[in-house]
Amino acid sequence: MNSLHNNICIGKVCIKLDEVDSTNSYAKQLLSKSKPSEGTVIFAHYQTGGRGQFGKTWESDRGKNLTFSIILYPSFIEAGKAHCLNQAVCLGLKDFAESLDISVRIKWPNDIYYHDKKLAGVLIENGVMGGSLDYSIIGIGMNVNQTGFSPELPNPVSLKMIAGGEFKTEELLNGMFPFIERRCEQLKNGHMREIKNEYEDSLYRLGEKRHYQTATENFEGIICGVNDEGQLLVEANGKQCVFGNNELVYL
Ligand code: BTN
Repeated sequence: MNSLHNNICIGKVCIKLDEVDSTNSYAKQLLSKSKPSEGTVIFAHYQTGGRGQFGKTWESDRGKNLTFSIILYPSFIEAGKAHCLNQAVCLGLKDFAESLDISVRIKWPNDIYYHDKKLAGVLIENGVMGGSLDYSIIGIGMNVNQTGFSPELPNPVSLKMIAGGEFKTEELLNGMFPFIERRCEQLKNGHMREIKNEYEDSLYRLGEKRHYQTATENFEGIICGVNDEGQLLVEANGKQCVFGNNELVYL
């Protein structure tokens, strides 16, 4: 991976907040009144209104986990290719987990899974201008030291539950930045294809015959990759089916 001309600098500016509604919302407000430097991080010990994908909430006990957002200006990404950034960020999180000797997979589109449990999630919110991305707010939540979760969450797991022992959250945060930065640089240097290939190779349940549910049916299928629009490809009954957000339930 080419690390020359590296100029994103994730975390060089890091705004640390004791409490905020949502670090993504805070980043958006910041962007509405200023131009924070690229790579600015907003980190919070506690979010009162943490947001997850598809309008869900993101719960995280005070001071126990990583909840933060990164501001980027990826104008080199066309609006229709925003999923590439998501793929790069997920790979960065996977690289980071592997640096801790924790093997994870990516549950499409942006959950980080340890076996059948969710360790982290990503919520990217983009601003578009002239057909390409004007700004990107990359929100990341990773369960670190929390061991008790709301029973409504189906399958959470934390680093502590996996590895045992307490982690220092802010050390972990600083350790994570280079992994995300490297993948974003890889994307910026034109290696979208490599990112896509590695993302596909990292997919949770890749190549396994498993049960799924759509709004109309239950079926057995095999996840085989993603298309150039970032949608999930599943082989079922000898056909290749394409799924967008929220169209498929994993049984
Ligand atoms: C998901 O898996 O549903 C995505 C979760 C993203 C949560 C993070 S925590 C930091 C940032 N601020 C938010 O309000 N959400 C993201």
